[in-house]
Amino acid sequence: MTVVINMRDGLDERGIRIAARFILEGKLVAFPTETVYGLGADALNENAVRRIFEAKGRPADNPLIVHIAEFDDLKKLAGEIPGEAKLLAERFWPGPLTMVLPKREEVPYVTTGGLDTVAVRMPAHPIALALIKASTPIAAPSANISGKPSPTLAEHVIDDFYGRIECIIDGGETKIGVESTVIDLSSERPTLLRPGGLPLEEIEKVIGEVEIHPAVRGKLVDVARSPGMKYRHYSPSAQVIVVEGKRENVRRKIAELVEEYRSKGLRVGVMATEKYEADEFFHLGKTEEEVARNLFRALRELDKRGVDVIIAEGIEERGLGFAVMNRLRKAAGYRIVWA
Ligand code: TXA
Ligand code: MG
Repeated sequence: MTVVINMRDGLDERGIRIAARFILEGKLVAFPTETVYGLGADALNENAVRRIFEAKGRPADNPLIVHIAEFDDLKKLAGEIPGEAKLLAERFWPGPLTMVLPKREEVPYVTTGGLDTVAVRMPAHPIALALIKASTPIAAPSANISGKPSPTLAEHVIDDFYGRIECIIDGGETKIGVESTVIDLSSERPTLLRPGGLPLEEIEKVIGEVEIHPAVRGKLVDVARSPGMKYRHYSPSAQVIVVEGKRENVRRKIAELVEEYRSKGLRVGVMATEKYEADEFFHLGKTEEEVARNLFRALRELDKRGVDVIIAEGIEERGLGFAVMNRLRKAAGYRIVWA
């Protein structure tokens, strides 16, 4: 049975107590963060964490992020905390930043996918923080079946997990809509492993230039440092195609592709920042913030509306656009049309 706790109108202490008890009993609780919904369990309880992998169908070597509610929790999880980590935590926590650091012995290998490092983040969401404070550090991947788009609404979590986990906290729509930025601080040079809700430009203002792991750009070179990078991601059932290039060219190309696929008898959906004629259309909004917030929802909704093909308009790669394009290209399996 799944208990759904409604907190769309704000935090509810009684609900938090119920959810915290589930966590402390080794059960699974999906909860909202400012990025996407997480599927949480006690990060130090091996059996509980194992259930996350089972429920998601997630490969055991893809490590989880441990969520904390105060800086002191970090000291219980990470062995060494370099100066850069302190600077970044001071500036951006709570927030959409995950830092990879050498793990302490107490953190089970199940949580870290067998790695000697642990990924840690302090989410900026009152429900998430209250839940952690009332229980313990919580390991939580995005609350979607492995390979599907991440959930930005409790409905998405219900679609994927109702009846299969103990509790879902409905906190309404998540604000940022793409997952946290993941940065590795466990080796010599700070390395970006996943662009996300905190723009890289902001991080570089604090600690200087950050290396970008080649897999971020889709090159599968050394996947050992973030095994998550090698798996299929964010994919709806429909085939996704991303169109990138100069604005006017993109506009023309999308219109052309819609006609081409329709003439083959396919149902075509378009997701973009301006209006297109197609069988189904999802307006992503105008700014990069709006596009980020609507991205996963658009993929899920167009899929539900039964399209065969989703044509997505590419946006510029700066700010949140870096995370957006990273997710879109993955969702498309790197089927990119250059216009
Ligand atoms: O915003 C977010 O980060 C959301 C919310 C729930 O906090 N969580 C999330 O988790 O997106 P997940 O599991 O879907 O993505 C975690 C990413 C994966 O790419 C994983 O490989 C990487 O972080 N990761 C986790 N631990 C790592 C480690 N020790 N070393 C390298 N990469 C790690
Ligand atoms: Mg995920």
